Amino acid sequence: MSERWSTLVVSPCPRLEGEVQVPGDKSISHRAVMLAALARGTSRVRGFLYGGDCEATLAAISALGLEVERPAPDDVILHSPGPEGWQEPPDVVDCANSGTTMRLLTGLLSGPPLTSVLTGSAQLRRRPMKRVTQPLRQMGACILGRRDGQYAPLAIRGGALRGITYELPVASAQVKSALILAGLFADSPTTIREPGPARDHTERMLCGLGAPISVKGHTITVHPLTTPLPPFDWTVPGDMSSAAFLMVAALLVLRGEVIIRNVGVNPTRTGLLDVLRRMGGHIELVNAREVGGEPVADLVVRPSPLRAVSVQGGTVVRMIDEFPVFAVAATQAQGRTEVRDAQELRVKETDRIAAVVRELHKMGAHIQELPDGFVVEGPCSLYGARVSSHGDHRLAMALAVAGLIASGTTEITDAGCIVDSYPTFVETLLHLGASLDMV
Ligand code: S3P
Repeated sequence: MSERWSTLVVSPCPRLEGEVQVPGDKSISHRAVMLAALARGTSRVRGFLYGGDCEATLAAISALGLEVERPAPDDVILHSPGPEGWQEPPDVVDCANSGTTMRLLTGLLSGPPLTSVLTGSAQLRRRPMKRVTQPLRQMGACILGRRDGQYAPLAIRGGALRGITYELPVASAQVKSALILAGLFADSPTTIREPGPARDHTERMLCGLGAPISVKGHTITVHPLTTPLPPFDWTVPGDMSSAAFLMVAALLVLRGEVIIRNVGVNPTRTGLLDVLRRMGGHIELVNAREVGGEPVADLVVRPSPLRAVSVQGGTVVRMIDEFPVFAVAATQAQGRTEVRDAQELRVKETDRIAAVVRELHKMGAHIQELPDGFVVEGPCSLYGARVSSHGDHRLAMALAVAGLIASGTTEITDAGCIVDSYPTFVETLLHLGASLDMV
């Protein structure tokens, strides 16, 4: 899936100019095909993200016996018999590098009386799974996994779930969504309380389909699903987490103007946008509208001098995937930027605190690690270096943005993982006038 041997070579970029569209939202794409499996009939997902992570989800869903078609480059059609017609996956399900695939599927497959085994890349098998296996076991699912369910591979025997009341120890949309999906199969209501504003796409999509779910503040209640979901035709908005790289690039590169069309601006996802604006970044939202129950807008971004800020608390949750590129923005901001309360970054695709600090150091950034975040002293001049993505798509793209404003050439090794979330990233930057090469 990922071409892990490739190196991305980035040259300094004097100007970024033009209009682009980012691919479909990764979180929503995963959820859309899982909900299509819960529906009985034919559903269509437009703007589906054909990237490594979501393709893993699509393959897993088709292993349940759904017929899958690709009628257009960014669309997927799924014919589902509904959960009572799902078959047991005939082989081990490969979740590749995708934490969302594994955690949400663990919830979904805890529902029906089927046996399945989930595994993934070495990277994914190092990521914590107890956060889903423990509450799902409390609901009655039988889940076996390495170190008592802490790590994949996970073997799941679903069925006979009971509703529970569960306080999430960390704000996690993946855990919340796993419990919501399982709750649809339980014999009584499930109540989930989250400590912070984790992305709410699952709740919105289920509400939109008339599923028995209610949300009050940070408390979600799910009732058992008595009939399959209705089939749907859904359009996925562009991914804010992909737009993030273009936003930061367009603010930092000295000249030009970038318009990013059709970006999802769900408030649980706009932490970076808010913080960049607080730093003095010129980002205008125009043409605000709603697509598939999600707020969407076009973003107009212009080069801007930035000032340092502090980021902590709920804002961290609302920009949890954006810290690698935020660190790059902070290197160009005047003053001391501090990120706290972000210890979750240590259990993402990589330990993103350690990896970002280590790689940006190589480019001359004044950045220091904290147990729960990092501190950056800016502005500082970055220089090109040979850096590594550590197999983390978001780190690879953040380093590419750093390369655009560095002096000299930046080589990012192991950059093929970019396809996990943003397969057209290089093409898009080339279109805007950057000079990059995959070798
Ligand atoms: C995701 C939730 C976030 C995020 C991940 C995608 C999702 O993880 O980091 O990239 O689609 O639910 P957590 O929920 O574990 O914070």
